[in-house]
Amino acid sequence: MNNQEIDSKDTQFVWHPCSQMKDHELYKPLVINRAYESYLELFNGIKIIDAISSWWCKSLGHNHPRLKNALLKQLDQFEHVDLGNTTNDLINTLSKKLTQLMPHLGKVFYASDGSSAVEIALKMSLHVRVLEGKTKKTLFLALKNSYHGETVGALSVSDLSLYRSPYESVLFKPPFIEAVYVQNTDDPLWNDVSILWSKIEKNLDQYIDSTTALIIEPIVQGAAGMLIISKDFLEKLAAWAKSHDIHIIADEIMTGIGRTGKMLACEHTNIQPDFVCVSKGLTSGWLPLSAVITTDTIYQHFYDDYETGKAFLHSHTHSGNALAASVALATLQIVEEQGLCNRANHLQKIMMNYMTDIANQTDKLHNLRGIGAIVAADLIETPEIPRYGFKVFQEAIKRGALLRPLDNTLYWFPPLNIEEDVLYDLKIITYEAIQAIAK
Ligand SMILES: Cc1ncc(COP(=O)(O)O)c(C=O)c1O
Repeated sequence: MNNQEIDSKDTQFVWHPCSQMKDHELYKPLVINRAYESYLELFNGIKIIDAISSWWCKSLGHNHPRLKNALLKQLDQFEHVDLGNTTNDLINTLSKKLTQLMPHLGKVFYASDGSSAVEIALKMSLHVRVLEGKTKKTLFLALKNSYHGETVGALSVSDLSLYRSPYESVLFKPPFIEAVYVQNTDDPLWNDVSILWSKIEKNLDQYIDSTTALIIEPIVQGAAGMLIISKDFLEKLAAWAKSHDIHIIADEIMTGIGRTGKMLACEHTNIQPDFVCVSKGLTSGWLPLSAVITTDTIYQHFYDDYETGKAFLHSHTHSGNALAASVALATLQIVEEQGLCNRANHLQKIMMNYMTDIANQTDKLHNLRGIGAIVAADLIETPEIPRYGFKVFQEAIKRGALLRPLDNTLYWFPPLNIEEDVLYDLKIITYEAIQAIAK
């Protein structure tokens, strides 16, 4: 089958995620032939740098040989058996490793996608309140600009109207708290938001009695445009929540497993969440797997004789899927062995220097920000260039990089093991793509 035939079948049958399909008439989806390391290879042999790690999940790049071996080894044993009534050494080992991400964690509950992990954490928190008899505690608090996924519960605690507004009538409506943002960890507000805190806290008082949980994207709000949140703001907010018996849900679906230079972004803070949601980088994007890591205290609320009706009767068919678990375990081992958290911090320095160079050379970027292996900047908007980000995306593809800006926010979110010369190529491509538009 040639490129054109694949294109035309796509137009006939495929509805792409998060896309205005009419855009694809003008700009056809890339036809992928294979992918390896930080590259996508198109049908015509052209190489494209995957600068966004395929929607933030391919943290070890494509076709990693050790992940392939782990998967093949598991294929020889069994692919999937439901986790309701069975167990295996693999899932035990993975679960132990996940609970070791933070000393206070004790149990792991599995699902498939990030959104389902968020649903589970929300339901567990609410269910605990029922079991405790604290029936007034039904409210969730979330942050302004938050994004936690697309299913109804996850979308309810997401603030981005682009995704939320058509479904407003069926979504629950958490208060969205204004966060304090920084550009990087050198910003004075990273360590100290005292001058702002008393006003923020006064506003929170009204929610004390009714709130079951606070949900946060620790340190980086991805979908909002890679906004970096002050560590001190998050610590103060979490301390306030703890002091009022409000659970903390840390949505580490994008930030977890090394992306921000720590295994979990919460490690930048002193926060001890009641629920940690991980996915994406957990399998380095090989297979869908998500997990909610929680405490023994939360778990004990549900533990009793069957007749008491306290069990958490939530399930997904592929909960704890063995193939996904095999790759997750290998991913965790590689991230640890190869010191990829440190590497993320090393990449930050290079990427920030490169993005700063581009901003200086083009005068088209502002609000540079970054942490770990994430760097972002906003295109300076101008009425003469509608859909600026989308245009830069198209120019970058022509030159060999998949950027997919978030509206007019350009960002790099490469595999943690990207080679430095590939990053340099990415810099040149990004520069040229901006220059091609902004004449
Ligand atoms: C912070 C965060 N939470 C939840 C999700 C939803 O995950 P999924 O798309 O796997 O359902 C995402 C996806 O981008 C995310 O970035």
